[in-house]
Amino acid sequence: MKGSLIEQAAQRLEELRRAGVETAEAPAVGSPSAAPSASQQQVDAMVLALEARAPHVVRPRVRNADPHEVEGDRAARRIDTDDALAAKRADAEGRFIDIDFARLKARGFVTPDAGSSQIAEEFRVIKRPIIRNAVGKGAVKHGNLVMVTSALPAEGKTFTSLNLALSIATEIDSTVLLVDGDVAHPSIPEIIGAPHGPGLLDLLTRDDLEFGDALVKTNIEKLSILPAGTRHRRSTELLASEQMASLLREIASRYSDRMVIFDSPPLLATTEARVLATNMGQIVMVVAADATSQHAVNQALATIEACEIVLMVLNKASRTDVGTYYGYYAVDEAS
Ligand SMILES: Nc1ncnc2c1ncn2[C@@H]1O[C@H](COP(=O)(O)OP(=O)(O)O)[C@@H](O)[C@H]1O
Ligand SMILES: [Mg+2]
Repeated sequence: MKGSLIEQAAQRLEELRRAGVETAEAPAVGSPSAAPSASQQQVDAMVLALEARAPHVVRPRVRNADPHEVEGDRAARRIDTDDALAAKRADAEGRFIDIDFARLKARGFVTPDAGSSQIAEEFRVIKRPIIRNAVGKGAVKHGNLVMVTSALPAEGKTFTSLNLALSIATEIDSTVLLVDGDVAHPSIPEIIGAPHGPGLLDLLTRDDLEFGDALVKTNIEKLSILPAGTRHRRSTELLASEQMASLLREIASRYSDRMVIFDSPPLLATTEARVLATNMGQIVMVVAADATSQHAVNQALATIEACEIVLMVLNKASRTDVGTYYGYYAVDEAS
């Protein structure tokens, strides 16, 4: 029988390291010992590479910038043809964020007009197995709940989760909910803006709120955001609470036809992230190339060994590595 998915993934990382993607420390001796669980249905031990991008000059955010002004933003124009209409919709249905696509694009994110840009292509490859696991014949239990995590901070969780959400929402006939679940360090508002008001933490602490009260719609019709919400003394601890587990069950069943992407805290920084992981259908593990030691990656993978589906994204890789390993994946036939 073949090794577990975690062993396979660790092996892929080792191959990448040998191919020149040096990790900061010598590789750990041995690999995490994880036996595939009996319930394991379908496993992708997979490594996908995301190229490191040169830093962009970011223009100051102009509130409610008109995407119509942006040259070539035809798709954006299609999505939000009428600001007045958008405002009306927000009035009628709750909170609304007008995402500034030009600003997003300048920061290296997928935008509705991204077409065949490299970032759009990279996320087409990354989202394919995720969607396959979430819908249709090959779907796994709660496969629509996708947690994006990493061993350490700053590996690219927010970059990956927002891009994944944008890529799915703008190209596929599937509705996406992006949850800002790194509640101690929420960074999605800084990138796309977010109105004040309730969010995830409020849903966990208040009985008077409905799920819909915390949702924020956007000018991408298929993309909604659940912001982190009001800071709480025990923000991160709440992620491991029974309220969170029950909210996830509610989301999984009420929104079984939509993808839910959770930007999450790093696995080695808090114990709550690993509890959260056990309630998810799929885990996307982001690894910063040249920055995170293999030891840290192995440790992080060991904390989520009970999770059936773990996909790994090697982020900030060099162009050569991306060229060599782009789209590379292996399916565990032992499952
Ligand atoms: N592929 C990439 N190329 C260039 N910069 C990146 C890439 N991925 C992430 N970054 C940058 O690295 C920093 C950390 O990423 P972020 O997604 O905020 O990490 P995390 O959410 O894991 O803490 C951010 O400034 C982000 O823009
Ligand atoms: Mg983040």
